[in-house]
Amino acid sequence: MARPKVDLGADGRKPRMARKRASRAAPRDADGKKKAVPTDKPPRVRLPRSGSLSADAVALTILDGLGVDQRLTDEDVISVLDAWKFSPNYRRVNVCPEGEKSVQSDMLGIVRIRMYAKAVVAVSTRAFPAVTRLLCRYIREQQPVELSGQTGSLKNFPFTTICVNKGYKAKRHRDVNNIGPCACRALGDFTGGSLLHWPRDAGPRVVKDVKDLDLADAVTIDHTKKFHVFHGMRAHEVTPYSGGTRYSLVYFTATGYTWLEDHLKVDLYDKYGLELPPPELLEELGTLADNAWGAPAPTAKRPKRKSGTRAAAPKSANVETPKSGNAEGVAKSTPGEHAAIRVRPWSALHSPPFTLGPLH
Ligand SMILES: [Fe+2]
Repeated sequence: MARPKVDLGADGRKPRMARKRASRAAPRDADGKKKAVPTDKPPRVRLPRSGSLSADAVALTILDGLGVDQRLTDEDVISVLDAWKFSPNYRRVNVCPEGEKSVQSDMLGIVRIRMYAKAVVAVSTRAFPAVTRLLCRYIREQQPVELSGQTGSLKNFPFTTICVNKGYKAKRHRDVNNIGPCACRALGDFTGGSLLHWPRDAGPRVVKDVKDLDLADAVTIDHTKKFHVFHGMRAHEVTPYSGGTRYSLVYFTATGYTWLEDHLKVDLYDKYGLELPPPELLEELGTLADNAWGAPAPTAKRPKRKSGTRAAAPKSANVETPKSGNAEGVAKSTPGEHAAIRVRPWSALHSPPFTLGPLH
């Protein structure tokens, strides 16, 4: 009797049970093992979840063709990002615009595995090392404006991780997965798409919901031409933009990076262009990031905590009304125009006790 015809599924394959039947009927050798059937089909290659081999090939070609005294251009970086296969990230709900459930975003470099209190090299970096190497070289050649004039260790922006985004319209949020100082850059053919930043934001223990922050307290950071540094744990959002594809790069230090095991640190620079920053340098950098945009000194003392209770901070502490603003109520600022002032320590924004351990 002829077997009933099996309809193929949307993927062009037989349904699971039909495949199982076919598998049972496959020719077998004397030991009962399946015999290899010669086929013209190429073997199936399982690629990593995100990233792209072609982006890595583009990055490798660019890096190989670049002399030691030559610099990467924005077009070089855009050509790699055009080839990169972004994966939808459903975990970053705190930055998703209203009505959207994911952002096109990938993490390169060192990432933390929360469940195991471990830090590892991101799978996309391991699979496509040339892309990470190219992005590391890009920021080293185009240091953020705020670091100009720095000497010693702060000549180069320290980071462990690069967040690569496409079409990213981040709503107002505070970063909670990084140690604070971020270097940001937006690339592509678009208009608008700058960063709105609240340098006076004293953190969730003072103003719980970022929606309650006053627009008049924000400054606009135009990172569409040059890298800028800001404090990612203070509120920020992307301004509306129009035109073509907008990519953004955020370089930061991931919390828990010190958990990276020693054997993983050996080839970090040679393979991926990554260098681990010393913790004390990050505190210095956090203060620099704050001072660049004019965060004020605390205006009220924090109440002393009674033993065994959480202190309730005054709602308006550390928030000042700016002296000027533009028509939209947003203060126009450029880095360095504010006098360097003593700020609330950046580490105070972390939940006590402050560690380089988990957040976000
Ligand atoms: Fe952010």
